[in-house]
Amino acid sequence: MTHKVLLLPGDGIGPEIAVQAKRLLHACQDAGLDIDIDEALVGGAAYDAHLDPLPPETLQKAKAADAILLGAVGGPKWDTLEDLSKRPEKGLLGLRKNLGLFGNLRPAMLYPQLASASSLKPELVSGLDIMIVRELTGGIYFGQPRGIEVRDGQRVGFNTYIYAESEIERIGRVAFEMARKRGKKLCSVDKANVLEVTILWREVMNRLAQEYMDVELTHMYVDNAAMQLVREPKQFDVVVTGNMFGDILSDAAAMLTGSIGMLPSASLNESGQGMYEPCHGSAPDIAGKNLANPLAMMLSVAMMLRYSLAENAMAERIEAAVGKVLDDGLRTADIASEGMQTIGTDAMGDAVLAAFAQQA
Ligand code: IPM
Ligand code: MG
Repeated sequence: MTHKVLLLPGDGIGPEIAVQAKRLLHACQDAGLDIDIDEALVGGAAYDAHLDPLPPETLQKAKAADAILLGAVGGPKWDTLEDLSKRPEKGLLGLRKNLGLFGNLRPAMLYPQLASASSLKPELVSGLDIMIVRELTGGIYFGQPRGIEVRDGQRVGFNTYIYAESEIERIGRVAFEMARKRGKKLCSVDKANVLEVTILWREVMNRLAQEYMDVELTHMYVDNAAMQLVREPKQFDVVVTGNMFGDILSDAAAMLTGSIGMLPSASLNESGQGMYEPCHGSAPDIAGKNLANPLAMMLSVAMMLRYSLAENAMAERIEAAVGKVLDDGLRTADIASEGMQTIGTDAMGDAVLAAFAQQA
């Protein structure tokens, strides 16, 4: 059966790293992977072309795809758009919401070759392997009412932090299942000392724990979790949390591994359809300069093969190719330690492709 893959390069460094992902997809095709690759606009690029960060054609192609690969969206060029609904980020949020991609998996795994690139001491991060499970279609990102309006003669801004029990339960199940397949430890992160919505969150997690007696569930307040992530990160196996806390903690966790430029992510819905993207953003400051690290994007291809296309062997081949390239001492600027020579986006892509070919 031919799998349909939709590539959405987006903005900033998105298009550059998408080129490398596309080359890798073609190499997978040559190695026997049966996929059909289509492309569409999203984010600022789509706004520029259609005055809409998520044009109907893109959404329709996304709905029809088995898996979506997204580069990154956003940039200063669009930050001044007054109409928030036209901002590039709305393209991404619209995809998540419309496709029901509630389960966001953000692994923070340290490649041993990069231990010295982390800002933490090597012994604190060596062997690090955390999976953050972030709820992605609810919480304060989408809660109603929201807005900016005049009350009592001054403007107020407001958002609503809301979760239904069913939303908490389904992300909880994703996390418990994940923990079951890994180290059997799950830490649920909340702010149950202040926020009712997370008191409910904690209750639901505790209830679910009765069904997963083999998994050890703990709870942590989000401020403490942020501290523990940089104090003793290896205490974590799987972390489950809501949309906004997950956004923040996953950036911190990513940085433990040396560079956010290394980490892929998956966003899954109930029917197993998925969107795959690097954890990093569009990095407008280095866009178009052949400086971006394409590895998170290339590893997103591997994640897609594993979670949406059931092509584990091919996924492992990509991951092994990335390992080989790191073993060979090849580094883009973001993952280079002092004194190391660095290479650009294209050369890194070349190296991964060469290593991938060798694995045959
Ligand atoms: C992320 C990003 C997005 C988010 C932005 C671009 C809307 O930071 O995927 O983590 O906040 O979810
Ligand atoms: Mg983020």
